[in-house]
Amino acid sequence: MTSGKDHIIRLSEVWTTYEGADLPVIRDVNLQIKPGEFVVIGGPNGAGKTTLLETIAGLLPVVNGTVHVCGLDVVKDGCCARKNIGYVIQNFDFHPYTPFTVEEVVLMGRFGKIGWLKRHTSRDLEKVASAISQLGLTSMQKNQIGKLSGGQQQKVLIAQNLAKEPEILLLDEPFSNLDMITREEVCNLLCKVADAGIPVLIVSHAFDALPDRDIRVVVMQHGEITLNQLSHPSKVEELVRSASVAA
Ligand SMILES: Nc1ncnc2c1ncn2[C@@H]1O[C@H](COP(=O)(O)OP(=O)(O)OP(=O)(O)O)[C@@H](O)[C@H]1O
Ligand SMILES: [Mg+2]
Repeated sequence: MTSGKDHIIRLSEVWTTYEGADLPVIRDVNLQIKPGEFVVIGGPNGAGKTTLLETIAGLLPVVNGTVHVCGLDVVKDGCCARKNIGYVIQNFDFHPYTPFTVEEVVLMGRFGKIGWLKRHTSRDLEKVASAISQLGLTSMQKNQIGKLSGGQQQKVLIAQNLAKEPEILLLDEPFSNLDMITREEVCNLLCKVADAGIPVLIVSHAFDALPDRDIRVVVMQHGEITLNQLSHPSKVEELVRSASVAA
């Protein structure tokens, strides 16, 4: 039997809302994730998938229940907790004249470790170079982020969050701008992250490039978790589809 301490992410009876919203968006959610799990979160548009990730990242008011990441309460200790959380957001839009290069944006992933006003070390630069190389961005590392394609920008954000060396990694539709081959490459990379013990939680509507390992499938509907079970990768799409139809 596993104790609560085995779970690096723990949500108990959680209700969350947006500032000014009439009703809670996430309702009575319980979720426990162990180190090294690979989690796919599915469900229809508006089901609450992004809200769930924002809740885990401690970015929303929790009106009931508790959210713990690495043993830290993300409401009471959000700043410390977020140093351990990698989060690739769903919607990003860099202005063409955003004054940062790819290298600088990826280096921002290290700020939680080095602090805004301190100088980065050679280790920080090594982590940045390694993440850039893993995402195949080395040839464009001096380019301005706003002048890259949507898929290239998405890869930069993934690299930034790998450079962060988080304890948990949340990705909201990370494949939405990626071509088929890149999707497979990124998925393999994320599989290695999970194999190293970092739980990877992906919100996705695409299930064609999942790694060959056990996947935890979580389906959301109307702000509630309606399915939460381990699955073979080949069964994930069917599970998400049938859980979405049944609810
Ligand atoms: N900033 C906000 N303020 C108020 N309500 C919001 C806000 N953002 C989202 N919502 C509402 O919360 C609900 C869940 O939204 P959420 O973005 O979590 O859905 P989702 O499952 O991620 O959908 P999608 O697949 O379209 O990304 C929706 O009904 C949405 O209208
Ligand atoms: Mg969303």
